[in-house]
Amino acid sequence: LVAGVDSSTQSCKVVVRDAGSGALVREGRAPHPEGTEVDPAAWEAALRTALAEAGGLDDVAAVAVGGQQHGMVCLDSDGRVVRDALLWNDTRSAQAATDLTAELGGPQAWADAVGLVPVASFTVTKLRWLAEAEPANAARTAAVCLPHDWLTWQLAGAPGLDALVTDRGDASGTGYWSPAQESYRPDLLERAFGRTPVLPRVLAPAERAGTVAGGGAVLGPGTGDNAAAALGISAEPGDVVLSIGTSGVVSTVSTTPSADPSGTVAGFADATGNFLPLVVTLNAARVLDATARLLGVDHAELSRLALSAPAGAGGLVLVPYLEGERTPDRPRSTGAVHGLTLATATPAHLARAAVEGLLCGLADGLEAIAAQGNPVRRVLLVGGGARSEAVRRLAPAVLGVPVLVPPPGEYVADGAARQAAWVLAGGDTPPVWPATSTETYEADPVPAVRERYAEVRDLTADRAAADGERPG
Ligand code: XUL
Repeated sequence: LVAGVDSSTQSCKVVVRDAGSGALVREGRAPHPEGTEVDPAAWEAALRTALAEAGGLDDVAAVAVGGQQHGMVCLDSDGRVVRDALLWNDTRSAQAATDLTAELGGPQAWADAVGLVPVASFTVTKLRWLAEAEPANAARTAAVCLPHDWLTWQLAGAPGLDALVTDRGDASGTGYWSPAQESYRPDLLERAFGRTPVLPRVLAPAERAGTVAGGGAVLGPGTGDNAAAALGISAEPGDVVLSIGTSGVVSTVSTTPSADPSGTVAGFADATGNFLPLVVTLNAARVLDATARLLGVDHAELSRLALSAPAGAGGLVLVPYLEGERTPDRPRSTGAVHGLTLATATPAHLARAAVEGLLCGLADGLEAIAAQGNPVRRVLLVGGGARSEAVRRLAPAVLGVPVLVPPPGEYVADGAARQAAWVLAGGDTPPVWPATSTETYEADPVPAVRERYAEVRDLTADRAAADGERPG
């Protein structure tokens, strides 16, 4: 048996699978605290609870941890956590991102150096924020790692800072590791933080990270959640995965590194030796949650309402930047509703505009991935938001391509479990587990929805610029 962990923003999930066939044997889960700043001890407590619910590790030969990307976990020289971790969706380092981009000579220099342009999500900007806002905590910081690195290290019994490990997938989201060079860029860390703390060693995709303390299970390197999801869904080059979870993610597997100076596509690495160009929006499933709350309905009713309104919601557009946005880079933006008339001021029109607005954000991401020369052979729709029938049925019309919907599943935890099986089996490629079944959704494209959305999105950009944002 092998176990895979998904330590996500909202909860910790564990799956135990048969290493050979991939069949699901047991699972467990536990919630995480709310907020964009979290004590890592809460992740460990949730992991222990979820592991116990999944029957423990006694009969498990290998385990790997997938986790939310980018979170800054600072450790002192005794391995104690210095302050609560700042998560990927914490935007307080937006100014640091702007400053760092300018200091290196602009977006192109960053894209060339590490395949991405700083935004508040990336660890490098959080370190700059720490150095400026909390110099005492910065001074106590002896090592910096990511959420999944920290949990792997805890499972190993926290054996010393020099035993910290990570993988290329998660390392590529820090902003100080180059996917193209496969190496850290201490010069960038020094620029951001003034010095280079101890960093986790970057393991090869199927390299052993050690063993679980007090047990015998082998530890895999683990990876970031998006790279784990690609493994869990067995994504191949040409597959584009659209994930509607806490974040909206559009990603694909590529055999070459990418560098987008516009910052839209982050040029991450994956967990197999390939690359994972990826676009993230901050406003995804919660756009549906917020709209359902506003209308006083549940998700089934929201979906029914959205499907009962005409395509384009009669001109009503919802730009869903409820928590600021990362793509486009507008961390201080708010959402906007445009086109209210006596005819469109109905729950059905608003529900439709919310679903279409969410999908238009993802459509922009898909377009950016394709514009980088990535083939788009299949589009797979996953994540909590894909459980909405309105999302599934409206996606092909807004995206302009058919979408395939696998059954709801724990693809991040599954990917981590598949990595654990790979660590056991060895070899150059992960073991082949049966492909998930998919349901196909098709519809005639309705380009007018995106055109009108783009007009309103650009209108709100002027407002954002007036508020001191960078142009998105
Ligand atoms: C990726 C990103 C999010 C988090 C969510 O860049 O910020 O997808 O990994 O867990």
